[in-house]
Amino acid sequence: MKTKANPGLIPMRKRWFFALWLTLMVVGHAMAEDRLFSSNTPQLEDGKIVYRQYCASCHGTQGEGMPNWEGQNALGELPAPPHGPEGHTWKHSDAMLYRIIAEGWRDPWNKTDRLTMPAYQEILAPTEIRDVVNYLKSLWTQEQRRHQADESAENPFPIQTEIPPE
Ligand code: HEC
Repeated sequence: MKTKANPGLIPMRKRWFFALWLTLMVVGHAMAEDRLFSSNTPQLEDGKIVYRQYCASCHGTQGEGMPNWEGQNALGELPAPPHGPEGHTWKHSDAMLYRIIAEGWRDPWNKTDRLTMPAYQEILAPTEIRDVVNYLKSLWTQEQRRHQADESAENPFPIQTEIPPE
């Protein structure tokens, strides 16, 4: 009865709820991002330790990459690229980054067949791979992080299926 007598009321209220929901989402998102990236959370620290130990030798201590990383070197291979805003790491979804690190990677146009980016699935635990990816995210701009988060919504990290040792 009420809704029929006053058809404008429900949509108005819905709109109000939507505005409230949106505000909460935005604030929540910003807070989550702050927690993850503005302070040295334990998770980021873990990722940084993995990075320093296993990745920095090729990708640089600050993620600056190798010199002349944009073209093939004398062997006909692409050198290790930077992970910061100038690189293209941020263009890959979580699923893809996980795969590159777990299974290794080489540019299909390299003149050699070896995996120039080594595979880490026998060396790092799944949580360590995710931690190091989260550390790489701290090197990106907020805009890049947002873009990559959108990409990852449909292509997330693989579901963890760690089989406990027998
Ligand atoms: C032995 C040197 C070496 C080490 C060590 C190494 N990488 Fe790489 N990585 C490379 C090279 C070379 C490439 C470029 C491969 C290509 O595209 O041909 C690469 C590519 C990548 C990419 C893809 C980047 C893009 O923009 O497409 C990611 C992500 C990455 N490495 C992460 C890591 C992480 C994380 C570690 C440590 C766990 C690591 N790498 C250790 C050499 C290395």
